[in-house]
Formats: sequence, structure tokens, C-alpha cells
Amino acid sequence: MTAVTVRVPAKVNLQLAVGPAREDGYHDLVNVFHAVSVFDEVTVTAREPGSAPGEIILRVTGETGSGPTRVPDDTSNLAVRAAAVLAHETGAGTPITIDLHKNIPVAGGMAGGSADAAATLVACDTLWKTGMAQQDLLDLAARLGSDVAFPLLGRTALGTGRGEVLEPLPCGGGLHWVFALAEGGLSTGEVFRAYDRLRPDAPQPQCDPALVAALASGDAAAVGAALDNDLQRAAVSLRPELSHTLAVGEEAGALGTLVSGSGPTCAFLAADERDAQRIAARLLEAGRCARTITAYGDVPGASVVS
Ligand code: C5P
Repeated sequence: MTAVTVRVPAKVNLQLAVGPAREDGYHDLVNVFHAVSVFDEVTVTAREPGSAPGEIILRVTGETGSGPTRVPDDTSNLAVRAAAVLAHETGAGTPITIDLHKNIPVAGGMAGGSADAAATLVACDTLWKTGMAQQDLLDLAARLGSDVAFPLLGRTALGTGRGEVLEPLPCGGGLHWVFALAEGGLSTGEVFRAYDRLRPDAPQPQCDPALVAALASGDAAAVGAALDNDLQRAAVSLRPELSHTLAVGEEAGALGTLVSGSGPTCAFLAADERDAQRIAARLLEAGRCARTITAYGDVPGASVVS
């Protein structure tokens, strides 16, 4: 085997409750992750012998609207760090090329960078036959970033701690989504800092039992009513035009609307696939977003496709 391709989903947060800033600069979260059918593909290829050992080359392609040219293609990329850390931990590293094919919006609040890092871990783990246990891979992913462990599991999960302590949550029915993409991204760190300014008195985050019950019963309308993101106000304060995008989805009759993660992508829950197409068309007509994507959830996590 000389190449492994892994498909990995984006996420939307169905609840994102954010506590006060901790000593280490992070925030305690209650984070209900939901994996949706917007996929990046990551291919890891062993390079010819004679290449410098341990050297990692990264190439990025993809949907222009997802912003692939804004992905760093050097060692600052989380996918490169993921491969380097796995090589270091297992002693298994050989020279590789990582090809990222992006569909997940870059810096869009859908954890695309984290998804690529998770997919790289799975691809390198398979290529190098490290035999690492799933829990060890999850721990390594959590060290790389708060959102890197979830795409290994996929489906729907409750994340606590800084988001990396995961517990699967039952999702009783498929959910149909529209994502409205904005021009340019938002920095997660900046959005958290804006949150601290807006909510210096933030309480400890609590999981919403109404959301958990709605998910388990597959009641999309009740899920829509329970969607909640504490970072929304912070993201809108940095990008006021997002409030117009959210309003168009609401007026179009979405079951629920929210900013996805730290934004600027906005997410709209639809009753079914046709309703999702209708809401997407309405958003484009209103000229309140750069592009829309329709998708469904939940879907499985990172998986080897070839
Ligand atoms: O963990 P990750 O590198 O993805 O986090 C990016 C940034 O988001 C952090 O540097 C921090 O500013 C913020 N963050 C936070 N609390 C969390 C997760 C992320 O403040 N639980």
C-alpha cells in the first residue's frame, strides 16, 4: 500500500454553551457536535525512497468557494502537525505527501482544519500500520486541537472540557441543513475574545436536556427550537451582516437558525431535503451570502475510502 484516502465530515454545533475564560486561556464548553455530509478528502502518499526522512509535503486543492487558497500549505497546517506528532509518537514516520481536497469552508466555523487533521491521523495510521488503539488516537487528536477528536467519531456527540471529552449522543432521525457561506473566514480565537468582552460574567455551561430529548426522538422541529450558540453574538459583533443572513433564513421558515461554531457560516435546519433547497434558493435570491451548501446529518466520522 502506497496511498490511503480518507473522507471526513464537517460539523455544526447544535448547542455551544461557553463558560468563563480559564487560567490557560481556553473556555469550558458544552458542545453538541453534529457531523454533516460536507466532506473533505485527504490522501496520504508514501514518497519515493531517497526523500529526506520525516519530510512532509502538503498540497491543497478544492472547491474555490470553500477558500482552498487560504489554507496554509506549510508546517503551520494542522494536518502536517498531525502527521508529525503521529510519526513522533509511534516512530513510524516515512516521507509522505498529504493532498487535501477541500469542500468544507475554510475558517468557516465547521471545523474543516480540525477535520483534515483527524483524517490525516487516520490515513497515516493506516499507511504506517501503527496499530494504535482508537482511544490513543482520540487522545492524540485532542492534544492537537479542541475540535480534532470529534471528526474521528462523527455522528452526534456531547463534548465537554474544552470540547475534546466526547460522549456519543443518540440522533433518532436525519436532519436536513442549509449552510450559508460568507466571504472570508473568522478566527476562532478572536471570536472567543469578543465573547469574553461581551460576557465577562458567563456562567458555567450546562447541557440543554430539551435538545438531547429532541435529538433522541428525531423531532426536527424540537431540535430547531433548541439550537443555541453562545458564540453567535460575538461572531455577529465582528460581522454585523450575519444578522441579515440569519433573518432571511428565519423569514423563509427554517426550523432553526444559528451561526455555526465561531462562524461566519450560518446554519439553517430544514424540514426535509426539498425545504432545504427552497431555503437555499431564498438565501441566494436575497444576496445575503456568497454561496450555499445543502447537507444532511448525522454522518459517520473519518473513514478510509481507498
Ligand atoms: O483548540 P483550538 O486550537 O482549536 O482553539 C483555537 C482557539 O479557540 C484557542 O486558541 C482559544 O483562543 C479558543 N478556544 C477557547 N476555548 C475552547 C476552545 C477554543 O478559548 N474550549
